[in-house]
Amino acid sequence: MTVTDRLAEIADIGRDAERGGYSRHLLDATDASLRDWFRRSASALGLAVEEDGDANLWAWWGAPGDGAVATGSHLDSVPGGGAYDGPLGIAAAFEAVAQLQAEGFTPPRPVAVCAFAEEEGSRFGLPCLGTRLLTGAVEPAAALVRADAAGLTLEDAWRASGRDVAAVGPDPDRVARLAAFIELHVEQGRDLEDRGIPVSTASAIIPHGRWRLEITGEGNHAGTTTMDQRADPVVAAARAVLAVQEAARARPPARGTIGKVQVVPGGTNVIASRVVAWLDLRADHDEDVRALFDAVLAGARAGVEAEGCTLVVHEESFTSRVDFDAALTARVAAALRPEFGAVPSIPTGAGHDAGILSSVVPTAMLFVRNPTGVSHAPGEGARDADCEAGARALAATLRELAGAA
Ligand code: GLV
Ligand code: MN
Ligand code: MN
Repeated sequence: MTVTDRLAEIADIGRDAERGGYSRHLLDATDASLRDWFRRSASALGLAVEEDGDANLWAWWGAPGDGAVATGSHLDSVPGGGAYDGPLGIAAAFEAVAQLQAEGFTPPRPVAVCAFAEEEGSRFGLPCLGTRLLTGAVEPAAALVRADAAGLTLEDAWRASGRDVAAVGPDPDRVARLAAFIELHVEQGRDLEDRGIPVSTASAIIPHGRWRLEITGEGNHAGTTTMDQRADPVVAAARAVLAVQEAARARPPARGTIGKVQVVPGGTNVIASRVVAWLDLRADHDEDVRALFDAVLAGARAGVEAEGCTLVVHEESFTSRVDFDAALTARVAAALRPEFGAVPSIPTGAGHDAGILSSVVPTAMLFVRNPTGVSHAPGEGARDADCEAGARALAATLRELAGAA
């Protein structure tokens, strides 16, 4: 098989007719189908699959044990996301194992292919949910009370899927077995395309925070309420959006986004009573994100109050900067050298499970060139030949890391 063949097997799961691309979320119908595909792919290679207490899947080549080398990514997407963000890392991992098996390689160390739960945080609002729970980066109780857009809590969705709520939480024994984790991922920018290079390693993930802004005004009639009588939270939200843009632009290379807005009640002839907006801020260092947030908050509050509305802000997540393990990354780069020469090590503005795992296990990443540079949208791309190059790079990495006892 090829990586492209493997991705073709899930190409029809979770297509989003309205948004385009894919909408695949934790514990929905697509999740079950994607987990079935994971199990089938693993068993075709003779790998034994287990699900941990946090809904992360582990396919073991060799008996689970100490000194294991894990690789993988996630199967969930953002709403209307691309085909590669997440699944490429899993399809490439299975393909890398297949290639190593075909060449008769038997790893002295156990190798695991992983699919981590809810990396995007698109349903329950917490990115890297599965790895945060696994590593203890979030308390189970704090995660289980999170609700999706329909108001269903993670706890209720967990129970409804037949999973055990009591099993949710850190698994230090499982983590302690890992000697290294490698995540292969489509690049979410055009750096490699511009350099003309198919694969690279990663140097760092910049920090990132997410906040929920609740703006309350006064619901009223669009026809009878004169413009000077209004406390319109949609106008207040517009001012908040501009405050985000202004604060982020004043601090390059910081990034600020409001990508999701809910208007309540949401009628054409109704002045809304409430707007909920989700804010995503990123910058080079944790303190830069905090300073950006303070500036956004000051600007947004002034704008909201000027419209006679009120603002309440909740922090939904904060993910600190990650600098990947330099020694492991150098080892991966050396393993790539025979085929790929000297590959660059590039930073990314996108979050990954690798970032969470790097706090507890030596971790590195591989990026695969993206010709469009687009991600989190249907236009996300990776050439077939580059996906295969990625699998070969991952195979070389696993040969190196799992090959030494
Ligand atoms: C995940 O891809 C993120 O960076 O939000
Ligand atoms: Mn993503
Ligand atoms: Mn991803």
